[in-house]
Amino acid sequence: MCGIVGVLSSHEASPILVDALKRLEYRGYDSAGIATIDGTTLDRRRAMGKLVNLQDLLVHDPLPGKAGIGHTRWATHGAPSVNNAHPHRAGRVAVVHNGIIENFRELRAFLADNGIGYSTDTDTETVALLAQYHLDRGLAPREAARETIAQLHGAYALCFLFDGEDDLLIAARKGSPLAVGHGEDENYIGSDAIALAPMTDTITYLDEGDWAIVTRHSVEIRDAAGEQVDRPRKTIATGSAAVDKAGYKHFMAKEIAEQPTVLQGALAHYIDAAGGSVTLPDPGIDFAGIERLTLVACGTAFYACMVAKYWFEQIARLPVEIDVASEFRYREPPVTPGTAALFVSQSGETADTLAALRYMAGKADRILSVVNVAESSIARESDLALPILAGVEVGVASTKAFTCQLTTLALLVLKAARDRGEIDDAILADHLAALRRLPGIMNAALNIETATRDLAQELSEARDILFLGRGAMYPLALEGALKLKEISYIHAEAYASGELKHGPIALVDPAVPVIVMAPTDGLFDKTVSNMQEVMARGGKVLLITDAAGARTASDGVWKTLILPDVPPFLAPILYAIPAQLLAYHTAIAKGTDVDQPRNLAKSVTVE
Ligand code: F6R
Repeated sequence: MCGIVGVLSSHEASPILVDALKRLEYRGYDSAGIATIDGTTLDRRRAMGKLVNLQDLLVHDPLPGKAGIGHTRWATHGAPSVNNAHPHRAGRVAVVHNGIIENFRELRAFLADNGIGYSTDTDTETVALLAQYHLDRGLAPREAARETIAQLHGAYALCFLFDGEDDLLIAARKGSPLAVGHGEDENYIGSDAIALAPMTDTITYLDEGDWAIVTRHSVEIRDAAGEQVDRPRKTIATGSAAVDKAGYKHFMAKEIAEQPTVLQGALAHYIDAAGGSVTLPDPGIDFAGIERLTLVACGTAFYACMVAKYWFEQIARLPVEIDVASEFRYREPPVTPGTAALFVSQSGETADTLAALRYMAGKADRILSVVNVAESSIARESDLALPILAGVEVGVASTKAFTCQLTTLALLVLKAARDRGEIDDAILADHLAALRRLPGIMNAALNIETATRDLAQELSEARDILFLGRGAMYPLALEGALKLKEISYIHAEAYASGELKHGPIALVDPAVPVIVMAPTDGLFDKTVSNMQEVMARGGKVLLITDAAGARTASDGVWKTLILPDVPPFLAPILYAIPAQLLAYHTAIAKGTDVDQPRNLAKSVTVE
């Protein structure tokens, strides 16, 4: 899950590389580095930690040259350090890599047999060493790269730069995304279109197994068999606003605040002009012929799937199986006729989710996906990809993508219910009308921000926090705990509130705040009973509910957060807002790095 970039420019490459890395920093920020060729001399600069450290280094020790490669790292093999930072270099070769070279130990042994040692803890260094080994055998750079790539197992997006070759980049893709950007007398390589957005909007995505030989005036793409292939050029509407905080202190704050707007866009995309039905992009799907649905995702996207399971089963009466992708892909689940599989992913590049999709391809009747990045691998490998239209999400903690995933899934559930004859027109119209009102309700819910800021100071002093919810609010409790732990580093757990008394209630203690998510729905009384069990044991409860819930159940609780009324079907979307705001303000109170929390990266392209 590193970010890589390559540039063959007519201008100095360093500032272009650094700007592209800024756009890729969401993929990892353990270290950053660039290598360039000035005339015939290849040199590199690398720095630990965030990109800003590399920028400082370049001020004192600039790197001239118009051709170069760059990398921002999320460490897999080898601790974050300057020595382990990319680009890795061996002799005439510099290389940047995103992914994991699974056979690097065998390759090291092969190199050792040929008298070649290694000096870093990384898997990537073996790629540079191998390429140099092939150069030493007398191969030209292009052949050396081809031979090297053929020896690699695992997942990679690679970009090679060769000393003495100021007009050549060689890139390769297997299991990790990679794009070629086309400019005028310039060409580029990037992990995604966003990285290349300031330079070009004309992109060619490499397919699995492709490798590309790129000069300033040519791009030659070859497939895994070595055949020259034509891959389509696409014009991408990415816009340079992708890394703009628009006046907010953090991307996360901006992304929380823009949820009503992006939700409105998603609803307008899927609800027909008359407002009476859900329209899907071609080729569509008819759920009448589907007997069961398998939902697979990771992290926050998985919690969106958990909510959707309640919806599909209750509203569309469609049996749903659900699993996290990293487990699903190795379970070898039998797939019976009539099964559709649905994969949810913001980035569309999550390695485990993509592998799960590939497992189901050819087995399931239909492969569907719900993605934010329309050109992502998961979207491209689906029979039907539904965009969530959240816009670029930069904050590592997912916010607007989650609510847009839920909204898109809610619309799909209504379409499924309609196809299966499980919903009549009047109820469908009611649900669609409620969905159209949701952006306004979300807007009103954002008014709880001041109250969450006030609570956050006290929450930030807790060592452990529990979240409780029932039914479709259980996944919201899980999402609240995930959000809190990933950006504030406070240990948080979530339980289905009915499960509490089967063990976790032993954790209840006045020092452990318990956050209860309980809109007044059919399960409200049950959740409140579980909340009473917590309070009876000295637990300090923060109740998140609506006005009616607050009237009924606020007695004895530590604090109550009151959200606007919302139909129960849509409560999971609305209750994401307090989960996000509590995590955000608690992290601010603790002084952690909200947009780039430690150890994490936005796009998880390794398993
Ligand atoms: C948490 C978060 C992650 C992602 C997960 C899946 O805030 O963002 O848990 O949801 O890594 O990523 P995507 O949706 O890109 O597949």
